[in-house]
Amino acid sequence: MNNLILVGFMGTGKTTVGSALAASLGMPHRDLDAAIIEQEGCSIPELFTRHGETYFRDVESRLLAQLLDNGPQVLTTGGGAVLRKQNVAVMLAKGTVIALNASEEEIIRRLENDTSRPLLAGGVAERVKTLMAERAGAYDFAPIQVDTTGKSLEALVDEITAQVVESAEGGKQ
Ligand code: S3P
Repeated sequence: MNNLILVGFMGTGKTTVGSALAASLGMPHRDLDAAIIEQEGCSIPELFTRHGETYFRDVESRLLAQLLDNGPQVLTTGGGAVLRKQNVAVMLAKGTVIALNASEEEIIRRLENDTSRPLLAGGVAERVKTLMAERAGAYDFAPIQVDTTGKSLEALVDEITAQVVESAEGGKQ
């Protein structure tokens, strides 16, 4: 099995689904944000405050490429990992990319009380709306697209597994 890479906006369930998918497939699960936190020795809000977003994006790009050289695995990424063209190219070259989607309403509901995401500081609903508009189409490059709204974890794991198998058989990766 190739690397399976989960992308999607914040709150689409990448980490939860990725962990369950990895367990179901007997593959290791690695999370890009967790790798960044481990390497930098501080939380993501602290990293943004101390060094700024560009520094965070540089670390993110570097670790993404490193982790993808150490598969196969299920790799879950942060919502902004798709913003650099080089990252998209690396993901497409090194694995099968799966985009998780959810409605704006559902994402706001899930993230309402979140304090761990610096880009949502100052008003979750407003920030989600702005960022979703800015990032419209950013996740469309993934050959597998999955809507998570209203689906159980088990149903999502089954749906993704079926799509991965189908995409492998069709030689689309
Ligand atoms: C970000 C998403 C976050 C994290 C950082 C920036 C983004 O990850 O990488 O706060 O730019 O969308 P999640 O998608 O896991 O929340």
